[in-house]
Amino acid sequence: MPASKAKKNRILTGIQPSGDMQLGNYLGAVKNWAKNQDIQTNFIPVVDLHTITVKQDPQELKKQTFSLVAMLFACGIDPEKSTVFIQSHIQAHTVLAWILSCTTPIGWLERMIQYKEKSHNQERVSAGLLTYPILMAADILIYDADEVPVGEDQKQHVELTRDIAERFNNLYGETFVLPKAIMPEVGAKLMGLDNPLIKMSKSHAHVRGHAIRMLDDSKEIERSIKRAVTDSYNEIRFSNDKERAGVNNLLGIYQVITGKTVKEVEDDFKDARGYGDLKSRVAGVVISEVEPVQKRYYDLLNDPAELRRLIQKGDNSAKQYAEPKLADVLKKIGLDRDGN
Ligand code: TYM
Repeated sequence: MPASKAKKNRILTGIQPSGDMQLGNYLGAVKNWAKNQDIQTNFIPVVDLHTITVKQDPQELKKQTFSLVAMLFACGIDPEKSTVFIQSHIQAHTVLAWILSCTTPIGWLERMIQYKEKSHNQERVSAGLLTYPILMAADILIYDADEVPVGEDQKQHVELTRDIAERFNNLYGETFVLPKAIMPEVGAKLMGLDNPLIKMSKSHAHVRGHAIRMLDDSKEIERSIKRAVTDSYNEIRFSNDKERAGVNNLLGIYQVITGKTVKEVEDDFKDARGYGDLKSRVAGVVISEVEPVQKRYYDLLNDPAELRRLIQKGDNSAKQYAEPKLADVLKKIGLDRDGN
């Protein structure tokens, strides 16, 4: 089949409007979604319903949701090529999530690493935190997505989505596509600068020196990278050694931004004068990567009417897929209105 006629892969992937977007989200996820939007059909919900598994300030949530859409466009997601929309605006997701929660064993959910981490040592855990991956499965399955590009932390949730889909298909007949998680070869897990043994995370982005936020100015980026935890080996090369995780992380950031091979990156640092030099060069490439994104972001926020128009457009096109799919599911389980 000629390339132009080949069926495009359908992609669905989401991002939470919780806290400030950080470099891990961008390099591990969003930048790749933008890169591939000519060769695949992208559905990108801003998943506000997932965010409320933890209490949010209502005004702040609204603001974060709106500004995350602007940030996605600023990162290169093109509203003409990708469908960016707000999860809570498409109510079919929550209806499907309920249906899937009736076919998913609780044991499958209790095994999820993220659930275990987030519920650990908490006095009260919401049911939503446990059923979170079912809503994620609904996000994916309602668009018949073939692939789900995510960072490493979400891989288990996508595998669970396959199991949920398979179980439903076995119970009610072929209904859902079984999706695959796609992870970048480099950058699938950026680590915290203050602690390179935990992933860089939006929810810790307020902790000084943990993350590089997409809206940090160049001084702040330099400061965070300068403070990054390293080691006493004073050797600039990639390594799986836990003790060298900090340097490995800095080299990884440099590699994913420059697109160079491991060898090319190590060669680039052959003449470096210690970790101070490593840090200032890494800061340099990070700043040149995020500055144009920041400029586009502020330009977009200056035109809220246009942003609202783009959200409406995304919502409308998402509905065109999600609603008929939900109708098909309802029919399969005997909840359609035909005959009553
Ligand atoms: P969220 O909002 O935490 O993260 C959005 C994307 O960024 C990736 N990511 C990272 N990649 C590399 N290094 C890091 N340190 C890093 N931190 C985050 C995440 O893997 C993700 O791809 N549950 C999802 C949102 C979601 C979703 C979905 C994703 C809801 N429905 C359907 C895919 C499909 C989440 O909380 O992502």
